[in-house]
Amino acid sequence: MTTPTIELKPSSHPLSDAEREAILADPGFGRHFTDNMVTIRWTEGRGWHDAELVPYAPLSMDPANMTLHYAQTIFEGLKAYEQPDGTVATFRPEANAERFRSSARRMGMPELPADLFVAACDALISQDRAWVPSGGETSLYLRPFMFASEVGLGVRPANEYLFMVIASPAGAYFPRGVKPVSVWLSEEYVRACPGGTGAAKTGGNYAASLAAQAQAAEQGCDQVVWLDALERRWIEEMGGMNLYFVHGDRIVTPELSGSLLPGITRASLLRIAEDLGHPVSEGRISVEDWKNGNADGSLTEVFACGTAAVITPVGSVKSARASWTVADGEPGEVTMKLRKALLDIQTGAAPDTHGWMHRV
Ligand code: PLP
Ligand code: COI
Repeated sequence: MTTPTIELKPSSHPLSDAEREAILADPGFGRHFTDNMVTIRWTEGRGWHDAELVPYAPLSMDPANMTLHYAQTIFEGLKAYEQPDGTVATFRPEANAERFRSSARRMGMPELPADLFVAACDALISQDRAWVPSGGETSLYLRPFMFASEVGLGVRPANEYLFMVIASPAGAYFPRGVKPVSVWLSEEYVRACPGGTGAAKTGGNYAASLAAQAQAAEQGCDQVVWLDALERRWIEEMGGMNLYFVHGDRIVTPELSGSLLPGITRASLLRIAEDLGHPVSEGRISVEDWKNGNADGSLTEVFACGTAAVITPVGSVKSARASWTVADGEPGEVTMKLRKALLDIQTGAAPDTHGWMHRV
């Protein structure tokens, strides 16, 4: 089976310059979408076909579409940044393509070739170049996703899928800016368990997180921190971000347990922290470690990281039994240094020594 090329059939009625500029002045996160989208179909026996860039538009769906019932659906998130020379580059799209393939395997879906994933993102960015915001931490957020498109109620892997890429200009994910977030340690609900789907980027993981997120909000917290399913003791991650713990110079992140998402920002920060001379490791971190390290002052900073949120300090922690402020509750020095180092690479302000940036 051959890899299809993407046929360009863009919108003949893009938004006016004035309308687009008004959106780009305050894009928020995930609220506005560009003029076009990419669609690629997969059919059993035929493989990937009908790759097209078409005007952004709603989909019409049969009520018996299998995704609506059995949730074979996966997604990715990556960002394109305007570079100082006016070109646009994405951050590690091949890594997202690989994770997408691994999510597909876990969910019984076909694997999209990595070069087609990257080509689909590139085609949409090139066509909708005017939507890439300029300056600061702004970016064009790309959302590649795939779902079963077969109609029927039998429970089995579908024999038809639709892969799509849409794009949304992004300002800051947290509207309050780089202010420490407060977190709720979820002991009642878990996000994922050994052998489950936690390491896949599939919609159901996010649906399963919402009741706990509502509980966090009731407790006056911004975000949920997930613990392991078996002991409710080991720190896993947050709803859309991985976590890092800073002990003076030394930096630790929860190891990939199989039930947390292997974040690309997480993996990149392991390298960047090392570049900056920090001893870094992956390990098991318990709630007691967090609480005691905080009390005896050995834990100096905690931060969350992910594509949408970049790096965000964690300022305070609450559970059913205890609550505490992380160090002095303010953004820490190491957190802000790593945040700047990562953003400098992404925005082209610093040399891309790891070859992570992909020119569109
Ligand atoms: N954990 C979860 C549950 C996520 O949804 C995300 C976001 O993609 C992350 C972690 C961070 O991953 P990445 O750095 O690849 O964006
Ligand atoms: C991302 O950081 O890209 C995410 O997918 C997190 C969230 C928006 C689900």
